[in-house]
Parts: sequence; C-alpha cells; structure tokens
Amino acid sequence: MIIDGKQISEDIKQEVKAEAEKLKAERGITPGLAFILVGENPASQSYVKSKGKACEEIGFYSVTEKLPATVSEHDVLEMIRGFNNDPKIHGILTQLPLPAHISEQKVIETILPEKDVDGFHPVNVGRMLIGLKGFLPCTPAGIWELLKRSSINPAGKHVVIVGRSNIVGKPVAAILMQKKEWANAIVTVAHTAAPDISYYTKQADILIAAVGKARAITAEMVKPGAVVIDVGINKIADASTKTGFRTVGDVDFERVKDIASAITPVPKGVGPMTIAMLMVNTLRAARGNVYYSRAGQTAPEMYQAS
Ligand code: GUN
Repeated sequence: MIIDGKQISEDIKQEVKAEAEKLKAERGITPGLAFILVGENPASQSYVKSKGKACEEIGFYSVTEKLPATVSEHDVLEMIRGFNNDPKIHGILTQLPLPAHISEQKVIETILPEKDVDGFHPVNVGRMLIGLKGFLPCTPAGIWELLKRSSINPAGKHVVIVGRSNIVGKPVAAILMQKKEWANAIVTVAHTAAPDISYYTKQADILIAAVGKARAITAEMVKPGAVVIDVGINKIADASTKTGFRTVGDVDFERVKDIASAITPVPKGVGPMTIAMLMVNTLRAARGNVYYSRAGQTAPEMYQAS
C-alpha cells in the first residue's frame, strides 16, 4: 500500500475548513496565523508560501512578515511580542532555521505557549512528554494521523525511528510511546552514534526515517512487511527535469516499496501532512481550548509567573 499523504492532508484541510466556518458562525472568530520568515533560504521561502496558501484555501486569516537576514534578534522578539498581544492572531510560526546571530531557543520561548502552533515551546514539549493536552509539533502529529487514517495501529509494535531531532525524532518517540489509543508502541530511537543503523532498522515493524540524507534507508535495511514512513525531503540533481533537480526521501522508495506492507512516498507523503496539522493546531488555538483548565484558570493565566 502506498499511503497517500496528499489525499489525507486534503481531507483534513476540508474538515478544518468546515470547523472554521462553524467557529466563525457561532463565535465570530476567524483563525489567524502569523508567519515570520527571516532571510532568503529558498526551502524556508517555499515552506512559508505553501503554509500561507493552505491558510487561504481554508479561510484562515494570515500575515507573513519577511525580514532581512541582517535583522537583529531584538527586532524579531519584538515582532513576536506584538503578535502575542494581537487578538486577531491565534498562532505564531517563525520559520527555522534562523541566521546564526538569532537564538532559535529565545525565539521559541518568546512565543506564548497558547500561540505556539509549531509545538516547539518547552511548555508544549513537556506537556506532550507526560501525555497532557497541548500543541503537538506538526510533522510528528502528521505521522501519527497518517498511521491512524491508514488503520495502522502502533500499539504493541516495535517502532524504530532513525533520527533524534527536536522537530521529528524526539517528539514522534514521545507521542508513540504514550499509553494511549493509537500509540502504546515499543520505541527505539537510532541515530548517528549507532555503529550499524541496519541492526536497528531491520527489527522495525514500523520504521520512521528522519535522517536527512537521500535514500539512506535501503531495501536490505527493512524487514519484509514493515510499514515505512519517510520524513526526508532531499533535493538531488536530475538532468531530466526542468529545474535540474528533484525531491527524494530518506528511503530508497523504488526498492523498499516492494517489500514494505505500506510506505509513504516523497513528495506527497509526510510533507503535506505537516501543513494540514499546522491548520489543525491553528484551529485549536483559535478555539482557545488547547489546555485543560485547572481550577478555573484560563490557559494564559496558567503560564503567567505568580
Ligand atoms: N523548519 C523545518 N520544519 C519546520 C517547522 O515545522 N516549523 C518551523 N517553524 N520551522 C521549520
């Protein structure tokens, strides 16, 4: 089975669109998302453009602030504080990576947790780890949703993740190991320190490749019948295309598809799911019920220093 991430992401966007229309009709709220794009990184420009387009498609309000690579850290943080205080904006996304003189961690921690639709703020990361409600980071949430909507239940299965990034490897491990429905997996996180990655990958019932290297996962590394989720987006030279390059994943799709029971392609696999889950997170932010309220406190009060 080829898992059609494009189709599933379209289904989700239609659902979010319908929910957003209800929110507008019932409470007069239009979900609003602010993008901050620093510098001229072509991949970042393309991602932000796609995310903005998705907002347009489903009727969200969005603003994109493009800043030069020379902008000061202070000015970026001030812009974030402005969006924190803007009632039309429910989600804030600063596209990473940032130029070296700007601290990504400071940027992440300046965004209010209840507007952190990327799920990168330590409050959301911590809540995810202990199984509380919050924002899940979009790519791991997209992988989880792909599994659910393809009726692939990770419970009791051995999930092997290759890669330990804060954006994919670590959070997807945290999500799939929770004692919850559609999770409850036995999780291994393999990474560059392993002398032989294939020792781990061959044991996977569900293999999640987030390596960042074109076709790093070959057919010999995959157990027959495994489910393979490819998170990679790598550009390789290809003289037969107009642009001179094409996009491939971290998995050797052409060979692995013949032994896997299910596999996500690249493009049209995990990529569009990341955007769909950003729309889900923004809808939830706009509804304002992201966290369990505790003793009558609203989410913003919960995170104010006493
Ligand atoms: N850079 C690569 N992936 C992401 C993402 O999901 N969010 C942000 N903000 N930056 C990224």
